[in-house]
Amino acid sequence: MNKYSIAIHGGAGTLVKGMMTSEKEQAYKSSLEIALNAGYEILNHGGSAVDAVEKAVRLLEDSPLFNAGKGSVFNASGEHEMDASIMDGSNLKAGAVSMIQGIKNPITLAKDVMQKSEHVFLAGNGAMEFARAHEHVFEEASYFHDDFRHDQWQKIKDTDNFQLDHSDKIDSKFGTVGAVACDQNGNIAAATSTGGMTNKRFGRVGDSPMIGAGNYANNKTCAVSCTGSGEYFIKGVVAYDVACLIEHKGMSLEAAASEVIHRRLLEINGDGGLIAINTKAEISMPFNTEGMYRACKASNGEELIAIYGG
Ligand code: GLY
Repeated sequence: MNKYSIAIHGGAGTLVKGMMTSEKEQAYKSSLEIALNAGYEILNHGGSAVDAVEKAVRLLEDSPLFNAGKGSVFNASGEHEMDASIMDGSNLKAGAVSMIQGIKNPITLAKDVMQKSEHVFLAGNGAMEFARAHEHVFEEASYFHDDFRHDQWQKIKDTDNFQLDHSDKIDSKFGTVGAVACDQNGNIAAATSTGGMTNKRFGRVGDSPMIGAGNYANNKTCAVSCTGSGEYFIKGVVAYDVACLIEHKGMSLEAAASEVIHRRLLEINGDGGLIAINTKAEISMPFNTEGMYRACKASNGEELIAIYGG
C-alpha cells in the first residue's frame, strides 16, 4: 500500500500572531481540522484522491470563515461570484467553473464538469445551466451574507480598489481554499475554490479556476493548489511551473515549490502561497506572506495545523 496524505489551505496573507482573538484563531483551526480529517478519512478507507480533495474543499466552502462558497467576498455589485477547479493527476482530467452565483458547493460543480461533461471549463450562465441540469444545490443570497465580508466591501465600494482577503492591509489579502491529496493507489489530485476579490468588477476571473495557474495535478510530477493575488499566479503559471521544475529540472517537490514561491513569484511582485503533494505522499506548503491557513496529515502519523510563519 502506498503511503497516503492530504494537505489543505484556507488562504494566505498578512496573518500575524496577536492580530486575531484566541477564539477566532481556534475557530479557524477547528474548521481546518474538520476539513482535513474528513478528507483524510476518505483516503484511510481506500477512497480516491479526487474524492478526498472534493470533500475537504466542500467543508471549507461551507464555513463562513474562508473566502469560498458560504464565506465568499462581495463583488462590486454587492453579489457573490465564485470560481473553482479540480484536477485528477492519474489521467489529467480536469473541471473548472467561473463566475457562478448561488451555488452552494462550486467545487462539486467543477467535479461534475470533469466527470459528466466533455469539457474542462464552463463559465457564467452556461455553468449555471449545467448546474441546474445536474441538480446542484442553490442557496439564496442571504446564505452567502456575512457581516465581516460586507464591512470589507463597504469600505471600498464605489472606488476602483479591489482586494483579497485575510488581512487589514488593503492590498495584501488572499482568500481562496484548496486541497491536495495522494491516495493509497499513489494517485494525486488538486482542488481549489474561491470567491475571488472584494469589489471585483468587469467579470474579473482569478487564478483559482485556471488549470496550470491556481490548480494542477499530474501523477508524473505533483498536485498543486495556490492562494494569493490571482493576477500574479496567472502571469507566473504558478501551479504548472512547480510541475515543470520537477519534470524538466529534476528538482524535489520541496525545492520546486520553494523556488516558485520564494523566488520566481517574488520576481514578478506576486505574493501568496501554495500546497503541493507528490505520489510519494510528500507535502510542501511554502508561502511568502506572513501567514497561511494550512494543515496536513499523513498515514505515517505526521500532522500539522498552522496559521503563522516563522
Ligand atoms: N487567488 C484567488 C483570486 O485571485 O481570485
